[in-house]
This record gives sequence, structure tokens and C-alpha cells, in this order.
Amino acid sequence: MKRAFIKSYGCQMNVYDATRMADQLTASGYEMTDKADGADLILLNTCHIREKAAEKVYSELGRLKGEGGLIGVAGCVAQAEGEEIIRRQPRVDFVVGPQAYHRLPALIAAAEKGQSPVETDLSDDKFQSLAAPQRRAVTARGVTAFLTVQEGCDKFCAFCVVPYTRGAEVSRPVADIVAEARQLAEAGVREITLLGQNVNAFNGADGGGRASLAGLLAQLAEIDGLARLRFTTSHPNDMSEDLIAAHRDEAKLMPYLHLPVQAGSDRVLKAMNRKHTADAYRELIARIRKARPDIALSGDFIVGFPGETDADFEATMALVEDIGYASAYSFKYSPRPGTPAATRTDQVPEAIMSERLQRLQALLTTQQKAFNRACVGRTMPVLIEKPGKHAGQWVGRSPYLQPVHIPEGAGSVGDIVEVAVHAAEGNSLFAEPAGRRVAA
Ligand code: SAH
Ligand code: SF4
Ligand code: F3S
Repeated sequence: MKRAFIKSYGCQMNVYDATRMADQLTASGYEMTDKADGADLILLNTCHIREKAAEKVYSELGRLKGEGGLIGVAGCVAQAEGEEIIRRQPRVDFVVGPQAYHRLPALIAAAEKGQSPVETDLSDDKFQSLAAPQRRAVTARGVTAFLTVQEGCDKFCAFCVVPYTRGAEVSRPVADIVAEARQLAEAGVREITLLGQNVNAFNGADGGGRASLAGLLAQLAEIDGLARLRFTTSHPNDMSEDLIAAHRDEAKLMPYLHLPVQAGSDRVLKAMNRKHTADAYRELIARIRKARPDIALSGDFIVGFPGETDADFEATMALVEDIGYASAYSFKYSPRPGTPAATRTDQVPEAIMSERLQRLQALLTTQQKAFNRACVGRTMPVLIEKPGKHAGQWVGRSPYLQPVHIPEGAGSVGDIVEVAVHAAEGNSLFAEPAGRRVAA
């Protein structure tokens, strides 16, 4: 049997896509391996979001040059650079963009004949044609899973490549998502994270009508065995009332929300084309917290967007102070080819970006530690995921997505156990069973 190796970079959607590509390859006679060494097919599933992410691909391709098998480039660099990839690294046999994964078998067949196909068509609905998830592979993937429900973005933030690499917003039909979620639950999955570039803009066909993300969550909550639901990533402008209410009313929806704001200055938000103010975000967070007071908030931030002044940056710091994040991701602005912000003449010098990023990250780390410390002394349900680093230890997740270390005797993988948190260290919590098993 021929062996295929997939290496993914970037966001969770690439992780999910890798599982669907693996199913596609398995259906056409490949066996998956976790080693590039000796593989008949090596597929790099790439990310184009920042310059560093894109450059990684070329250094990896340089390293892989000596390998004997076919080499394919998938993901967002494939979409953004297309044929340029083969020009820069002729060792590459084929290129496939994120909306064309159903064409993998045909592309591989062409590459085997010595052609160098490049497929970056964005117009197909790949989900209609992809091989169905394979039960055996699903079982091997553990008790948590990603499930893409929406793909693409119509927002066109001035810094971002995603609308160009993933195409226009498309929501999958509710029935397909429910069927896939059922299959995951039957294979032992207890927690599903619904994915979309703008997941809260979900608007999927449902019978004769359409369902919102809140409507979809309500249907998924009915599935036996599925204990926890999450979703990511959301845009503040699509945070509808029914979704906020779901955080109050839907017991299976976990109290964690990743809601990127990017910056705290209205001038910068406008230049970024975010279409909301910092105060609108503050008010939105207040409404979400009213619905679910203990919700853990997470966000993304960009420092050094072109034209960002010291005062603009201080407005970001002030916003972070006001909100109080449980976790967050922050980045230096990276000019991306083809995006409006990249050609601006007021780029912020690297040294200033570094200094701002350091200050922001210090504040975010302080907030994360405070959030974790506030959990000490509380009891909470933990989904046991896998063995921990040390013998005799499990690691699981709290409702707030923190890793929690507990003694092995507390239960088995897939159990949700009530634990008492006794310590917080680094990003993790440490806990003992509180005695009572919540769900088998
Ligand atoms: N809504 C998307 C966001 C994808 S990009 C999602 O589904 O995840 C993830 C984050 O990368 C963004 O929120 C933004 O903070 C950051 N980012 C995007 N483009 C960037 C750029 N050009 N430079 C630096 N960071 C960027
Ligand atoms: Fe990019 Fe903005 Fe779309 Fe998120 S909402 S994917 S940051 S364009
Ligand atoms: Fe990267 Fe594409 Fe995801 S650019 S962040 S892999 S959508």
C-alpha cells in the first residue's frame, strides 16, 4: 500500500481539512503515516496569514527536496501563490487550493504522469464531493473533534488574506453537519468545536429554510453522547441575540468565546475595516457577560497596523484592561501581498512593533494568570482527553478550555468528571476528583 504524510500549519480549519484530505486519500488507496521519511506522497497543508507562516513552507520544501515521493502543496499558500510555488521550488509536483480538495485523486494521478497540475478554483462546493469521513479514522482521533460548518469570509479586513485564500462565505447544510456530528459521537467523540472563518455568520440550509449558528447548536445539542459544543472564530458584528442567549440557555455550549477585536482605537478599527468601534465591543461583551457571567473571553490583537500611533496603541491596552481576557493571541502586523493595508506608506517600524507587542503580551499574560488563579478552590467538570506528561496523570479540559491535570484514578478517557482545582501553574490547572462522576 502507498503511504501518505500530511503536515499542517496555521489554524484549526487546516487541522480539520487534513482529516478530510486523509479520508480522501484513504479512499483512493493510500495509508496514512506520521513520518515524511519514505512516504510516497507528502502534502504540506499551508498557512498564508503572516509572512513567517508562508516562508515556513519554502524552508520545509527545501528540506524535503531529497525525499523520493510526490510532493504536493495544499492550503492557503497554495491558493495565494499557485504556480509561483512550482517556479520557486520545482521539486513540487502539484498545488491544490483549499476549495479543491475533492480533486486530490485526479491531481495525484496527473502528477504521477509527470504533469505539474495547479488547481486553485474557488467556485466548487467541495463538501458535496469529498469522500465521507472514515469510521476507523474517526475513532482513532480521540474524544474531541473539529467540524467545519462555514468557510470563507466576506469581511475583507484591510490586513487579511483569508477572503482571498478561502473565498466567499459559504455555510454547509444543517443536515450534513448533523450527520457528521452523529458519526463523530458514535465513534466516541464527546466534544465538537464548530469551525468557520466567521462561524457566527453561519446561515445554513435547514429543511425549506435557514438556520443560524444558535439554531444549529440547538440541533447538535440533541445528539446522544455529545456532551460539549464550542465554536470559533466569531466576528463581533455577527454576534446575534440568539447566539448570546444560547450561552445562557444551552447547557452543552461551553462558557468560552473567542471574539477577536484586533485593536482598541476607533481610528485604527476604521482603517482596518472592522466596521465597529471599541465601545461597541465593550457593550457587546457586557451583554454576553450578562447572559453568561463566568464566560472566559479570548481574542486576537494586531499591533503596528500601518499608521498606529502611541495613543492608538494605548487605546488597545485600555480596552484589554477593561475586558480582562482569559487567553489571547497577539501578533505584529505583517504586510500581506494583495491586501489594501500592505501598500500603505505609513508602515510602523519593526522596533516599535516589538516594543508594543511585548507590553501587550505582558498584560495579556497577567490576565490569563489571574483568570487561572481565580479557578483555584473551585470545582468544575473536566473532560478527560489523554495521558498527561507524567505517569499516573490524565490531562483534560475545563469548560473554559484550560488544560487540567488530574490523577489517573479519576476516570477514563472520554469521561467528564467533577474535580476540585487546587493549583494553577503556567497555563494549566491541577485538580483532584471531587468524588462525583457527572456523565459516563
Ligand atoms: N476570522 C478569522 C481570523 C483568521 S486570522 C478566523 O477564523 O480565525 C487569525 C488572526 O490572525 C486574526 O484575528 C488577526 O489577529 C491575525 N492576522 C490576520 N492577518 C494578519 C496580518 N496581516 N498580520 C498580523 N496578524 C494578522
Ligand atoms: Fe480575516 Fe477579517 Fe475575515 Fe477574520 S473577519 S478572516 S480577520 S478578513
Ligand atoms: Fe492560515 Fe488559511 Fe487558516 S491563512 S489561518 S490556514 S484560513
